Amino acid sequence: MAKIAVIGVGYVGLTTAVGLANLGHEVVGIDVDAEKINKLKNGTSPIFEKDLEKFLKIEIDKKSIKFSTNYEDTKTCDSIFLCLPTPQLSDGSADISYVIDAVKKLKDYLKPNSNLIIKSTVPVNTAKKIIDLIQDNSISVVSNPEFLREGNALADFFKPDRIVIGAQNQKAKEEVAKLYSSIDSEIIFTDNISAEIIKYASNSYLAIRLSFVNELAAYAENIGADATQILNAMGKDKRIGQHFLKPGPGWGGMCFPKDVNEFKSSAENMDQPIELLNAALLSNAKAHARIVNKAKKLLGNNLDNKNITVWGLAFKANTDDTRFSPAVSVVQLLIKEGCNLKAFDPVVKKVEELSMKIENSIEASIENSDLLIVLTEWDEFSKINPKSISAKFRQKNIIDSRNILDKKLWQDAGFNFLGNGS
Ligand code: UDX
Repeated sequence: MAKIAVIGVGYVGLTTAVGLANLGHEVVGIDVDAEKINKLKNGTSPIFEKDLEKFLKIEIDKKSIKFSTNYEDTKTCDSIFLCLPTPQLSDGSADISYVIDAVKKLKDYLKPNSNLIIKSTVPVNTAKKIIDLIQDNSISVVSNPEFLREGNALADFFKPDRIVIGAQNQKAKEEVAKLYSSIDSEIIFTDNISAEIIKYASNSYLAIRLSFVNELAAYAENIGADATQILNAMGKDKRIGQHFLKPGPGWGGMCFPKDVNEFKSSAENMDQPIELLNAALLSNAKAHARIVNKAKKLLGNNLDNKNITVWGLAFKANTDDTRFSPAVSVVQLLIKEGCNLKAFDPVVKKVEELSMKIENSIEASIENSDLLIVLTEWDEFSKINPKSISAKFRQKNIIDSRNILDKKLWQDAGFNFLGNGS
């Protein structure tokens, strides 16, 4: 059992803190947000993540986890995880100021021979900057990137595809590996820079893959082929695999856009541009615009005053996160076309960037609608019987950007149906 501090208890930090406590360690979660810390002390998770609140309460009852706003509470800890946000700056690079500020605050309390473990997604060479900042060779700076998917974060913590540990010395590598000893996963030991790149390269590869999938879907649709069948056959090739081959309204979330932009800008700054990253970003923006073009195909080029309903605002199902959501990007493009928009999402009830009404029910969202657009693949949408709601529409048109609905069922209910890729 180790004494661990987790600095920053957001999506990654809270999952990491609760996960490590469940593995048998003694954890203190630190955050500057006193309101968030108070909620956590009372066993309330500030984020919507499957099973997280359940495990949080279990670990609080076991007294294996506590929360504080005071960095001094880290001074008895041997391992300090940095889980601070690294948001995107206007030039596309990642902002590491939260990480650096945290390290400056920690410096007064870091025990000799402790491990400072960077879990935040940080630009290449950040570990080196932190090593230079703390000026204490007895403290090891370890790069331990996370690969948690929102909506699946705790499951991904307990069952990772791999654990990556980058450090300059074997002792630190082994000590950090020991924290995860009860997790059945391959551990990849490497250096700090390679560990930093593994994170960006993994997310960037997945984003490039999806940009290809989305362009292939548009191509297939326009030449009368069926992208679902094409992608299914492609996925049978073990080198391609069946995962991450579903067309959508574009990719988004708090990670892909930020990580692809950071990787692109840092590669360009090192005069080693990775051209495909630029192509993936441009392609992704076109995926959002294609949804608007489909709306025009169904309603005519002038969307002025047309009543359009969108189902789903989160960047994907099973999360309430609308940060960099393709659904929000599509809604913003539709609003620019002058249409009247209503939205429904099972968990999202407010979106900062949107001054639009989010309805509380499916029925209210489609009242007098000319077109329904499905943008997030919530199970709830695929269970709806179109015949039970069709009479509420002014015009029966639907675009299923996630291919989750039964096309024939909706066509039999009188809808003009456009999928994604066929
Ligand atoms: C991602 C990585 O998967 C995870 O390893 C990393 O730690 C953080 O970033 P996340 O951002 O939670 O996780 O979302 P993910 O499930 O990967 O989906 C990213 C985007 O791709 C979403 O907009 C999703 O809708 C889209 N997507 C995913 C598709 O359009 N099609 C797919 O087949 C899969």
